[in-house]
Amino acid sequence: MPKKKIVLFASGRGSNAIALHDAMVQGVINGEVQALVCDIPGAPVLETAASWGVPVILADRKKLGSKAAFEEFILKAIEPYQADLLCLAGFMRLLSGDFISHYADKIINIHPALLPSFRGLHAQGQAVAAGVKIAGCTVHFVVPDMDAGPIILQSAVPVCEDDTEDTLAARILTREHPTFVKAVSLFCDDKLSIDGNVVKGTTGWDPFKII
Ligand code: GAR
Repeated sequence: MPKKKIVLFASGRGSNAIALHDAMVQGVINGEVQALVCDIPGAPVLETAASWGVPVILADRKKLGSKAAFEEFILKAIEPYQADLLCLAGFMRLLSGDFISHYADKIINIHPALLPSFRGLHAQGQAVAAGVKIAGCTVHFVVPDMDAGPIILQSAVPVCEDDTEDTLAARILTREHPTFVKAVSLFCDDKLSIDGNVVKGTTGWDPFKII
């Protein structure tokens, strides 16, 4: 099966982007990074992607003005790559329905909470404030609603009584990388199908297993 062409989107540190890139280089994911899109000038992930020798697309939201111009810029910039999949790996912008319609069922996001709980920013802080005893991460297909869309995989971690947003975020992050890699790997092997809200093809994934 030919390798899937993947464009990564990230806004900051880029640890999820690195996990996906490394899994592709190691052959764990049957895909190849074509380019990385970043919306924040100076974000550490820009230098990381450049060190991979991957084309870097800086879409500076402030300079580009409107959201429509920002999205038009990205669509034009990634068009030559004919991507099979866009991976939002810590990309902190909401994409419009119009943008998403260009890549319907081909955009995957990771969110640091067990959706549908705790959508939006500071998801780990929301979990601590709510006093939940289990938290985790979700990898899902992207739809116009924020942090909604058919769920591909989730992984769980315990929440401790003395957790802060930062300590919980660090615990969840250790689960984000393998969960995202597995979800993208299943996509690239054509194992996933969407039936309404339900993603089929993920049987065997254990959300509680530490790997
Ligand atoms: C990750 O925790 C990711 O789940 C989160 O941003 C962080 C990025 O870290 N994404 C969101 O909150 C999106 N709603 P990274 O840059 O090290 O991958």
